[in-house]
Amino acid sequence: MMIDKRVLLGVSGGIAAYKAAELVRLLRAQGAEVRVVMTESAVQFVSPLTFQALSGNPVYISLTEVDAGNAMGHINLARWADVLLIAPATANIMAKIAHGLADDLLSTLYLAATCPVYVAPAMNQAMWSKPVTQENIAKLRQHGVGFIGPEQGSQACGEIGLGRMSEPADICAYLDASTGSEVQGLQGLRILVSAGPTREPLDPVRYLTNRSSGKMGYAVANAAIRAGAHVTLVSGPVALPPPVGCELINVETAGQMYEAVMSRATVCHVYIGTAAVADYSPVVVQAEKIKKQDGLLSISFQKNKDILAAVAGLDAPPFTVGFAAETDALEQYARGKLEQKNLDMIAANWVGREQGGFDSEQNALHVFWRGGEKKFPLMEKSALAGHLIELIAQRFQSADRA
Ligand code: PMT
Repeated sequence: MMIDKRVLLGVSGGIAAYKAAELVRLLRAQGAEVRVVMTESAVQFVSPLTFQALSGNPVYISLTEVDAGNAMGHINLARWADVLLIAPATANIMAKIAHGLADDLLSTLYLAATCPVYVAPAMNQAMWSKPVTQENIAKLRQHGVGFIGPEQGSQACGEIGLGRMSEPADICAYLDASTGSEVQGLQGLRILVSAGPTREPLDPVRYLTNRSSGKMGYAVANAAIRAGAHVTLVSGPVALPPPVGCELINVETAGQMYEAVMSRATVCHVYIGTAAVADYSPVVVQAEKIKKQDGLLSISFQKNKDILAAVAGLDAPPFTVGFAAETDALEQYARGKLEQKNLDMIAANWVGREQGGFDSEQNALHVFWRGGEKKFPLMEKSALAGHLIELIAQRFQSADRA
């Protein structure tokens, strides 16, 4: 998890330095605190102001500046970091740190750092494959430096080969996975998550659905995987890549979701109902396409079974977490659902507003349980899911969950 992780990002001078700006944005969106150190040549590619604005912290360039004017000092800066990431890492900075040179701030910080160090190399393919570069890489690997990339592809110089810096999202994901989860108490447990919308067919070509993209549910599943749980994800139709490391069951209708969840609920420890399940489905699904006609068209609906209530109503229910999507009176409705469905916890979010909720990258949650509540402000769904899973782990372990 990147939440509250302190990332010291070293930017060295290459054309890929512009990608480091997006990296800072993504790291912060994941909940990390970021401080940026640039080499003199990196400043030729991207302005320090860009990194200052994106990181929300001063940017460090020269050793004398850091030690003279700033309370941090280079040793304190190195100590501050939970992880040192150099991206892009040029052949030059890799050669310097492989040989213990400390003639600028970034190479000095590498020497002073006691935290894990990762590099994301970026250079021309011939420079990458040069034996001396490969020797430096081998040396750095021996010293415990982690390598993220580089990737194969077309390069700024027009050549094609190995040497492109990995995409910021991939670097972020790698770092996230490598720095490990700090959530305790869910390792080895079976967690069942529902996600996405359902589709209720009207005829062979039409269906009723809602605006759920599945992003929240998939983020919850990913966070549970990172926490070491065995995750089964029951998903309605979405356009998202399947999370790596979980069992994925694809369904379409609320009825299918009910069957898929109920057949697994008795053997899971935690159920998290993130899916936006249709409350109603048409009484009759027409065998042929409904034809256009004059006047009004009436369709009768019947209530679908409530999956969440059915899971919570089992003789030996798992720790059951519901979601509540509300357009008004959020707390009142969420607390009502917590009681009526006899849940252990409910995570309420606003929908139909400008930010958060359906099909947005971000969300905010107000979580309720008997005797407590916690608010998480608007943030990336992946970071929010991490917080939620941490809270679920705490509540699951607490003796007074009933
Ligand atoms: O998918 P995204 O685009 O990322 O959007 C995320 C989200 C807004 C869909 C998500 O955060 C969310 O709020 N999910 C619950 C949506 C919902 O159906 O809320 P509800 O208040 O109508 O239902 C309450 C709970 O009952 C939910 O846990 C729901 O899964 C469950 N339910 C509802 C009806 C039903 N027949 N069976 C159920 O299990």
